Amino acid sequence: MAYRWSASLKERDVTDEHLFINRRNLLSGLSGVGLSVLMAEPAFSKTLEPNAWEDITEYNNYYEFGTGKEDPAKFAKRLTTKPWSVKIDGLVDRPGFYAFEDILSKMQIEERIYRFRCVEAWSMVVPWNGFELADLLDLAGVQSNARFVAFETLYRPSEMRGQNTRVLDWPYVEGLRMDEAMHPLTMMATGIYGRDIPNQNGAPLRLVVPWKYGFKSIKSIVKITLMERQPPTSWNKANAREYGFYSNVNPEVDHPRWSQASERKLGGGLFAKREPTMKFNGYENEVSMLYKGMNLRKHF
Ligand code: MTE
Repeated sequence: MAYRWSASLKERDVTDEHLFINRRNLLSGLSGVGLSVLMAEPAFSKTLEPNAWEDITEYNNYYEFGTGKEDPAKFAKRLTTKPWSVKIDGLVDRPGFYAFEDILSKMQIEERIYRFRCVEAWSMVVPWNGFELADLLDLAGVQSNARFVAFETLYRPSEMRGQNTRVLDWPYVEGLRMDEAMHPLTMMATGIYGRDIPNQNGAPLRLVVPWKYGFKSIKSIVKITLMERQPPTSWNKANAREYGFYSNVNPEVDHPRWSQASERKLGGGLFAKREPTMKFNGYENEVSMLYKGMNLRKHF
């Protein structure tokens, strides 16, 4: 697979200022599936202390259920997520509808503790369960002329009250460049803290790209299309001046309404200290080579 990383980071490669990836096996797992842990952990591991379940699941953005941070927890309960399938089409050898249960049975489920950075300058740390997007794309067989991956969220206004308003152009769509999609840090999450992912966090499966701002992590995915041209993305369509295609966490490029230089970790109380935001959200060693030679101020 041309795009896949062959390099795997070992603990012995760790230095004080480097992040490291630490894989270890857990004895207990999600119902019957092998579970291993991958932590991309900065030297100051306190900063990767996971947030409480309540922080993660009761304060978030999912505009299909309303624009308030508490709306998803309030209104996402009635979303039906069974049965669920993902249509994978475009430049793949095996296009079609992939049943969620079939996908799960073929994937290696891991726990990954990732830092999350919202464009509104707050952050949190989430212990996700899921699998690499690359493994799902391999199932469908990516063709060599595919350069981008487009994602689409469910459109079901009868269960998603926000879709009866025009805050965004529905369905929610996102995109990644092929090498970003195939990067081993890019995952499809199906759980949090070893439990099924709650509806408000994007059940039954959503994207997590830890070096990008949170809005790139599209929820409740029903369609994945491999294509040659760069796909449109919801926030870029809504406000191109504020939201670019790449949306890599970058303390040097301010969002017009929020400085991106620092962040406050959720759950630390009102007086929690702001911390400097790290380039690529702290995953610089793992991903900076993807953007070598690119002007990241222009391609924000
Ligand atoms: N996906 C869909 N379908 N609809 C949305 O409104 N919001 C995005 C992103 N994914 C959103 C979405 C934004 S703005 C953020 S900050 C993250 O989801 C929040 O992810 P979380 O629920 O894991 O905190």
